[in-house]
Amino acid sequence: MTEAWALESDGQLALGPVRVRVPAKINLHLSVGPLRGDGYHELQTVYHAISIFDEITARHGDSLVLTMQGEGQGELELDDRNLVVRAAQALATSAKVEPKARLHLRKQIPLAAGLAGGSADAAATLVACDALWGTGYSRADLAKIAETLGSDVPFLLHGGTALGTGRGEAVSPVLARANKWHWVVAFADGGLSTPEVYRELDRLRAAGAAPKPLGSADALLAALRQRDPAELGAALGNDLEAAAVSLKPELAATLQAGRKEGGAHAALVSGSGPTCVFLATDATHGEQIAEAVSPHARSVHLAQGPVPGARVG
Ligand code: C5P
Repeated sequence: MTEAWALESDGQLALGPVRVRVPAKINLHLSVGPLRGDGYHELQTVYHAISIFDEITARHGDSLVLTMQGEGQGELELDDRNLVVRAAQALATSAKVEPKARLHLRKQIPLAAGLAGGSADAAATLVACDALWGTGYSRADLAKIAETLGSDVPFLLHGGTALGTGRGEAVSPVLARANKWHWVVAFADGGLSTPEVYRELDRLRAAGAAPKPLGSADALLAALRQRDPAELGAALGNDLEAAAVSLKPELAATLQAGRKEGGAHAALVSGSGPTCVFLATDATHGEQIAEAVSPHARSVHLAQGPVPGARVG
């Protein structure tokens, strides 16, 4: 059997291996509303996919097996607690096929970082297994399964820049100028648990210690229609930032270094953190910010956005 083609037992020729690349996300605007009865918060968020990628390779196999390399190796469970395995099982159940695949995950997106790495891997798995098994699902079909796996998974199928409402799972594209934004992304030591960060925000709000809620994304959406990084920078915001900094106070120095020493247009925590992101004018300005931030970070990466979501190839 060659690597490129595998002959299935029923005689149908199926393509394999299938390689899918999927980006990390940041939130340009993350407005957190009240806690709902189902344990989620009502959100108004603007998702933005950036050029830091994970990759899933799916091959035919006798059972469902996941291996991995890169960020989180040795820490991430590879059994059915893993979102990759759960995504493959969910698609197989829905499509009434046997969940048989050998999946390999190459991770650059860190765990529990506020970059939706686990959700990205789940989205990539849906696309990869759909192609491997010849399921023929549309993006809308995959999005329905995606939202059962996590609030950010539908966006990672989509990519680009998009508005997320509900608990984040209802995604619609944002009208923006064809523009590339330059980001500096600072990975922190250790992660933050998303539910804990939301709980911390509820606690700060109840104590009257949280900043005023961001509210509408209108200013941000208007800034995306321009090309001016100073204007976009002024409109970025994240209600979860105060909670992330409260749980990991050293993030304040990271943000400050990028803003003051690096001269970033804006500095903010990505999602529930602890990754911090900085808006640069261009790649040269990005290098300058990266230098200022690197003493405060585990590693620093230059990235661009928006980029497409989970895609074969
Ligand atoms: O949907 P996902 O599994 O990624 O969410 C992880 C956790 O983050 C939820 O269990 C919840 O505690 C918190 N969350 C929230 N409100 C949202 C999204 C996530 O409170 N809109």
